[in-house]
Parts: sequence; structure tokens; C-alpha cells
Amino acid sequence: MSDNAKLEIKGNTYELPVITGTEGETAIDITTLRAKSGVITIDNGFMNTGSCKSAITFLDGEKGILRYRGYPIEQLAESSNFVETSYLLFNGELPTKAEHDAFYSKISSFSSLPSGVKNILNQFPATAHPMGVLSATISALSGFYPEYLTAEATEEIKNKSIAQLMAQVKIIMANFYRKTIGKDPVDSNPALGYSKDFLNMMFDKEIDDEVAHALDTLLILHADHEQNCSTSTVRVVGSSHANVFASISGGVDALWGQLHGGANQAVLEMLDEIKNDGGDYKKFINKAKDKDDSFRLMGFGHRVYKNFDPRAKIIKKACDVVLEKLNVQDPLLAIARGLEEEALKDEYFVQRNLYPNVDFYSGIIYKALGIPTNMFTAMFVLGRLPGWLSQWKELREDTTGKIARPRQIYVGENERNYKKISDR
Ligand code: SDX
Repeated sequence: MSDNAKLEIKGNTYELPVITGTEGETAIDITTLRAKSGVITIDNGFMNTGSCKSAITFLDGEKGILRYRGYPIEQLAESSNFVETSYLLFNGELPTKAEHDAFYSKISSFSSLPSGVKNILNQFPATAHPMGVLSATISALSGFYPEYLTAEATEEIKNKSIAQLMAQVKIIMANFYRKTIGKDPVDSNPALGYSKDFLNMMFDKEIDDEVAHALDTLLILHADHEQNCSTSTVRVVGSSHANVFASISGGVDALWGQLHGGANQAVLEMLDEIKNDGGDYKKFINKAKDKDDSFRLMGFGHRVYKNFDPRAKIIKKACDVVLEKLNVQDPLLAIARGLEEEALKDEYFVQRNLYPNVDFYSGIIYKALGIPTNMFTAMFVLGRLPGWLSQWKELREDTTGKIARPRQIYVGENERNYKKISDR
């Protein structure tokens, strides 16, 4: 029996190849559909549409599985570090000690920003949202590193891009934060290690190892997540062979939305709203269920996970460790826990498989670390950078790849003739 799919349209039958991935996922390859039948498919939000074949991240939403290059996220969060995990995502294998050290030394070689970029950063008002600052400044890097503008993504360019952006995005974020609090920037000190260096540039103080480790774990958990909205944006921009800064800047803009990465900021604002409203989270559960109320339970639900988001489970546990280490009593944590408990036994959420996602608890840790709420989504950028760059590299190395250019079904006016304004 043929493995092909058979599609019958208006009395004609078309055979389409079926492909199966290494984890048994199956797809109908419709590359030839329009040529054969004149018909296209349409899929709101691409809920049933695969954009590519990828070997980077596997997730199973029904089973709550997430693996980077085959390694379970639970093992990486427990035993790896962000630099090592970034190397794994980008190169496909865990590094030897020599490879890890060479990679980190390359990141450390970008321990400052060109003065022109510092000037651009200083033009933003302190009230600017960090995501807009990041998007604009990352794109502006293309003006200072013209070697990236050649259409060819050479080995040298690919390997430099991840080291440079992991270093310079960290500096952009910390420098802009220092400007918002009226303080001078703190120089990067790579000897502290990636996450501790970031926290030191932010707060210019001694950083506890466990606190730095908690941030490192958060960055690991955010590092990649297959073809989500922002990664798809990075791939779409990359498919035109625009430079890597343009692709990553586009990813930042897509992540900003509160249905996506912006949800971590929205969760904290929601928890604050509930606290200021007297803490009655059951009232907000009912608001989230009310179709006439635009309120949604931020940090809940997911396009793919119809079970617990495995990252949320790990972050929820980390909350206790970090808050205890920092001796922080945050009433928002109790509200978050109450919301989760209430939602998980409510038919509306159970029926729709709505569980806490990666954004539900992460903000509580960022807040405990002293990171301002409007920087939470920028923290998501810092974590997701290696994933975006790995996906961009995979896209550029796919010699069969084509520019992303979807079709549409036109539902506008049929042909009509122009009328002079005097005749309208
Ligand atoms: C991220 O894709 C990724 O991998 C993303 C991400 C990553 O690592 O890159 O995991 C990061 O973006 C996590 C998601 C963060 N966003 C939020 O927390 C915002 C709140 N959640 C939602 O708005 C929503 O759940 C989405 C956007 C996450 C998913 O939306 P879908 O898949 O389009 O689902 P939907 O909006 O069609 O919802 C299905 C039903 C609807 O009800 P009915 O029409 O069936 O009656 O569930 C309801 C929705 O109204 N629903 C919610 C809800 N989420 C879905 N109702 C109340 N509160 C919610 N949070």
C-alpha cells in the first residue's frame, strides 16, 4: 500500500507524499499540490502546518516533552549551563571542555559595544521599552559590522554571529537598564561567567552563585522551542537572505507581543492587578472564562502543550529556591499558586487543556532578582538568542530552502472600472 496521501477535489484524486520524522511525526508534503490541482491549503495561525524539517528541538505537546538535540530539558536544566546548551543547539553536539572554553572565549572577545552603538543606545529616553531598544539596536549593529551584509552566510559569519550576539545583547540590555536608573554602565567581566557577568553589569554588586545559577537555568529553559511565532519570524526574514541582525531584530519584535514572550511581563501586571484588587483570584478566573470579557489568564495556555509545559514545572520549583536564597517573601507567588490550583480544577481550563506555560512563574524569579518588569521579555530574548541563531543557521544551510512566500485566498472586490471623482 502506497504511503502517499490521497486527496479528492471536485472528482479528481491527487496523490501527495507523506514524510515521517525521527520521532514518528507525520506530514503530507503539499509542495506539488497547486501545480497538480490548482488548489492551495489555508490554515489559520498555521496550527496544522509545518514550515520546515528541523533537527534542533523536539517537543510533544500531548506528553509535555521538550528536548534540545535529543537531550531532555530536565537533564539540561539540572546538569548543563547556558553557554554549553547554546553550543549544543548551535553545533548539534555537547562540547568537549576545549570546545566549551573556546566558545566562551569567543563570546568574551565581544565584551564591549562600538562607541556608535553606545551613542544610539543613549538616544533612547529612559522610558523607552527595552524590547524596542533591543530590536532597534540589534538592527543597528549591521551598520558597524558590514561583513555580515554579504548574502553568503559563511562558516566564519555563522560562528561569529552567535558569539557576538550572545555577548552584545547582554551588554545592550544591562547598559540600557543602567541608563534608566541614572547610573553609568558597568563593564562586562567575562571571568565571572555568562549569567553572573550579566547580573553584575545590571546591579554592580556581588552576585551569589546560586542566584546566578538560577538565572542560567532560566536561560536554558528559554533557549529554543521549535517553530514558535518569533522563531518563525527569524526564519521568514532569514529566508530572504537578509543579514542575521535583521533576522534577530525581527524575532525580537515578534516576541514582544503579549500572546507570546510579552506574556511574562503581562503575568506580573496581572498578579499585581489581582493583589491591588484585594487578592481574590477566583474573581479573575471567572473573568478569564467570560467571553464578553477580554481578560485572559496570562501565562496560561499554549498552542502546542496540551499538558503541563515542562519548563513551567522546573521554573515553579526554582521559585522556591531563589526566593528563599534571597530571603524574598513575594505575595504574588501565593496568588500565582492559588490561580494555578483554581484553574487546574476548573472545567473551562481542563476542557481546553489550559496549563501554566513558561511565562507563568518566570516573572516571579526575575522580580526577585531585581529585574524590572518591563525587562522580563528582554530576558526572554537573552535566553532565546541561541535558539533563534541555531534555527537561522539551519535555514541558511538548507540548500533546498526557498524564500518564505505564502499564498492567499482573495475575498475582495471583483474587477471594476475606475470612476472620475466627479462621477462618484
Ligand atoms: C509563549 O509557541 C511557543 O512555543 C511559544 C513559547 C515559546 O517558548 O516560544 O512557548 C512562549 O509564547 C508561551 C505563551 C505565552 N502567552 C500567554 O500566556 C498568553 C495567554 N495565552 C493565550 O492567549 C493562548 O493560550 C495562546 C496564545 C498561548 C495560544 O493560543 P491558541 O493556540 O491560538 O489558542 P486559542 O486562543 O484558540 O485558545 C483556545 C481556547 C479559546 O477558547 P474557545 O474559543 O475554545 O472557547 O482556549 C481559550 C480561548 O479563549 N484560552 C484562554 C486562554 N488561552 C486560551 N482562555 C483564558 N485564558 C487564557 N490564557
